[in-house]
Amino acid sequence: MPPTIRRAVIPAAGLGSRLLPLTKAIPKEMLPVGDMPVIEHTVRELVTSGITDITIVVSGGKSLIQDHFRPNPALVDRLRADGKNGYAEAVEEVADLAREGHITYLDQQGPYGNGTPVLNAARNVGDEPMLVLWPDDVFVAEVPRAQQLISAYEATGCPVLALMPVEPAETHRYGVPVVKEDLDDGLLRITGLVEKPKPEDAPSAYAAIGGYVVTPGIVDELREQTRRWYEHRTGEIYLTDAINAYAADRAVYGQVIQGRWYDTGNPAAYLIAQFASALAHPEYGPPLRRLARDLDAGTDLSGAT
Ligand code: G1P
Repeated sequence: MPPTIRRAVIPAAGLGSRLLPLTKAIPKEMLPVGDMPVIEHTVRELVTSGITDITIVVSGGKSLIQDHFRPNPALVDRLRADGKNGYAEAVEEVADLAREGHITYLDQQGPYGNGTPVLNAARNVGDEPMLVLWPDDVFVAEVPRAQQLISAYEATGCPVLALMPVEPAETHRYGVPVVKEDLDDGLLRITGLVEKPKPEDAPSAYAAIGGYVVTPGIVDELREQTRRWYEHRTGEIYLTDAINAYAADRAVYGQVIQGRWYDTGNPAAYLIAQFASALAHPEYGPPLRRLARDLDAGTDLSGAT
């Protein structure tokens, strides 16, 4: 039986350039989707899935993330004194979540690339597998995406990538897995990833969507890449390269995730995530649906923004 996964890493040091200028002062992880920031969706998902150690890898300009999760007893006292108990509870709930997930922060250090925060966090993880989730995605799923990944790891004892079906026109945005064998319940044996292929070059109809079970063997590959980087000082440290190096002679799996997936990493997708989440909200949903009906009936909104 492989060890249970208790630890997770959220790389959050990126510039959020695809969302500029919105993300000039606000970290993209702090943009709201529904009534919470994107990164809180990720943290809730991890805590619900039994993760008890979350490392958020940050860089300068990301202190709002820490402010969001930090307890604020003065604010809570003030709200209670004003009789605003509902708000006080909402503020406390976020700090409780951070405590349950035992969130710690690390400053990203090392060469550019999305493998570096994983290697940074691995120093604290030791010889254990860990979940790595990009904070770009929001999932609405009966079984949380993180839990689906953990189950796939428990079944295989091997690295696992979260996958979703992808339209051919979108393959250029994602890593697309080379599928060797289609097993039961959305579990696929894969032999590697092709990064951002044109539709005609895509090896399958799935995309890797920024959720990984990273095992010590993958961390060793990242360490080796980084060692080489310091020799030559060119290129970047990519998790995909480490996965491909590992997959050359060892088993790697993909798990097709059950649920709805919202990417929040580019402006159009972010707005869709916002809209969908507002529509699903018990309070905000009904007026928005009325607006959508009015629009269908031809109400002119030009000049309304
Ligand atoms: C990274 C990965 C890619 C994956 C994507 C998901 O790419 O390299 O395989 O499909 O995240 O968001 P990036 O978008 O950071 O270039």
